[in-house]
Amino acid sequence: MAGDLNEVPVGELESEQAVAELKRLATTLAKYDKHYHQRDKPLVDDAEYDALKRRNLEIEARFPDQVRLDSPSNRVGYTPSEKFTKYTHAVPMLSLDNAFSGEDVVDFVTKIRRFLGLPKEQDIPITAEPKIDGLSANIRYEHGKLVNGVTRGDGQVGENITQNLLTVADIPHELTGTGWPDIMEVRGEVYMAHADFAALNARIADSGRQFANPRNAAAGSLRQLDARITAERPLKFFAYAWGEMSDISSETQMEMVGKFEQWGFKINPLMKLCANVDALLEVYGAIDDQRSSLGYDIDGVVYKVNDLALQTRLGFASRFPRWAMAHKFAAEQATTTLLDIEIQLGRTGALTPVAKLKPVNVGGVMVSSATLHNADYIRGIGSSGEAIREGRDLRVGDKVTIQRAGDVIPQIVDVDVSARGPDSVAFEFPTKCPACDSHVVREVNEKTGKVDVVSRCAGGLICPAQAVEKIKHFVSRNALDIEGFGDKQAEAFYLDGLVKNPADIFTLEERDSEKGNLKPLMARDGWGVTSAKKLFAAINERRDADLNRFIFGLGIRHVGDGTAKLLARNYDSFEKLSAAAIEAADETSTAWLDLVNIDGIGETVAHSLVDFFGESHNLEVLEKMLAQVSPTPMEEVASGSPVSGKTVVFTGSLELFTRDEAKAMAERLGAKVAGSVSKKTDLLVAGPGAGSKLKKAQALEIEITDEQGWLDLIKQ
Ligand code: IVH
Repeated sequence: MAGDLNEVPVGELESEQAVAELKRLATTLAKYDKHYHQRDKPLVDDAEYDALKRRNLEIEARFPDQVRLDSPSNRVGYTPSEKFTKYTHAVPMLSLDNAFSGEDVVDFVTKIRRFLGLPKEQDIPITAEPKIDGLSANIRYEHGKLVNGVTRGDGQVGENITQNLLTVADIPHELTGTGWPDIMEVRGEVYMAHADFAALNARIADSGRQFANPRNAAAGSLRQLDARITAERPLKFFAYAWGEMSDISSETQMEMVGKFEQWGFKINPLMKLCANVDALLEVYGAIDDQRSSLGYDIDGVVYKVNDLALQTRLGFASRFPRWAMAHKFAAEQATTTLLDIEIQLGRTGALTPVAKLKPVNVGGVMVSSATLHNADYIRGIGSSGEAIREGRDLRVGDKVTIQRAGDVIPQIVDVDVSARGPDSVAFEFPTKCPACDSHVVREVNEKTGKVDVVSRCAGGLICPAQAVEKIKHFVSRNALDIEGFGDKQAEAFYLDGLVKNPADIFTLEERDSEKGNLKPLMARDGWGVTSAKKLFAAINERRDADLNRFIFGLGIRHVGDGTAKLLARNYDSFEKLSAAAIEAADETSTAWLDLVNIDGIGETVAHSLVDFFGESHNLEVLEKMLAQVSPTPMEEVASGSPVSGKTVVFTGSLELFTRDEAKAMAERLGAKVAGSVSKKTDLLVAGPGAGSKLKKAQALEIEITDEQGWLDLIKQ
């Protein structure tokens, strides 16, 4: 029954079946790779592709003798992005935080008011404009002439697509009017109108290709290496923001965008200035009503604080500006069949169930998988014990309703129990890890006695799935970001025993050239001399990785990229951090007190660091790693500022600014903010009513100033 082989669980395959199945997977994956890399349209979505890749790996792990020469695990495809040169943005291109309800919008404005210390009654003028569903780009002008155009990329580094952007009629090659700054970066959205999208699909129909939606069509067109093809694709552009500017002569968002129009850009005609939340929600409703007649896709409304001075004061939280928000339109729904429930393993051993769905189009996007969060969620129980889907459980074979809102992972929101057949059985969550057969446990919180919702594999050190996930995390974008070393390479290298943990990455080249190594990288399938050299060069480039990225890459529980930055800023070197974390195991030590005293680090993170550095196996890997890598301390955000590198404590009731604003201000200027006074404190900023902290600072002879003194010091 070779036709049904793909249905047979890996654990039940006979050797002969495995050979046939490995062959089928090699052929299928080669076909998918070709379409993905050489044409514009992938044949399957990432989830389906990954599932096949995983199945192939699992079979290879069970039948190591049958691994094919052309195994997909060894093949490294080139991602299309390698076709364009990289470009580092002068000012990062951040994305926006999302609101999904009117309440979220009220919260957004309340938080702004609180951050700025404004009274409840005070209205803050905010603009509202459509959120265009396209791709953002940064276009740089010097002395009025377009010099380059770049994609958003990961927000820090984008791709130079100047030639393609030059073909977009809405983007002026030279600025018109007068008064533009010498250096000016305009940001906005490249999109394709509905009519142009339909015409394009009709034109290419003969080739058998079709774009799923206008956004994909716009992306595919911008990604063309041959700008002549882009020129044939009618793309449009709305300007709505900016990057580096040698001079900003406007005081408000409205005024600035108005100038863009005078200088030759298209701006969205629906942009409105609103006095308060009610007005924002009214514009939101009005834009939603017009959505279907606009002639282009939008997926929400963007709100921005109008006053640019307030925007500066509000600044940025780790990933989003505090002064802007995207209010998404209601989610789209569709019904389909739940084909299977797969278990994915994360780097911390968490077992995450994923729904495999019969592919269905939800508002222009094909969906074939949805998150199921955890075992309780499948049973119809929410994280606080409440009923979800009115308590109905999910079973393989069920008819389900799925929902997709913006870029959020699709959810299963309902199930039709009446459509269940007689064979329907409740899903049994695995009690053994699918990768290493260790026990699956749900931890009990020491303090609350509550059982954790997450099921975890107990085989931390021996579990291959966790090891692979740790490597993937280490090389990922916000961590070491090693170019050409992605998920696929991590899996292949792990399977081959080449990279068993992150430290092995840095000895790859050395081991590769060792005598007796029968299969150097360049001789492997999918690799050549050039690609192997390129990978080694990319690895070597990270031997002085940024300290914060290195800390984040270690995958310590509860240490996200924001926390990693805080740690990097507060401990000048990795050695100091590790020494402190080891010492902090004793909670009466100053190391512990210093750690929890960092504003933004709580006991959960502190415990997690202590646990990580208390594990001898981790220290062994770290020792090997540090023989190869020297993490570079974080560059002071503003090394010229009078407070950079200093530890500051704010106390008393602050009147000129709020505590949050003070903290953001200090961090922007490269200072560390602590919660209490110690010998390490460099400066105490004391507002009216300061008490014990002030006394302690006086006793320790620490420099003390008041709010005005602080403002004078930093000259704001
Ligand atoms: S403002 C710092 N305005 O939405 C603020 N973004 O989720 C910069 N987008 O990456 C963005 N329409 O690609 C802004 N009117 C609009 C927008 C808009 C679409 C996109 C943009 C951004 C993403 C954030």
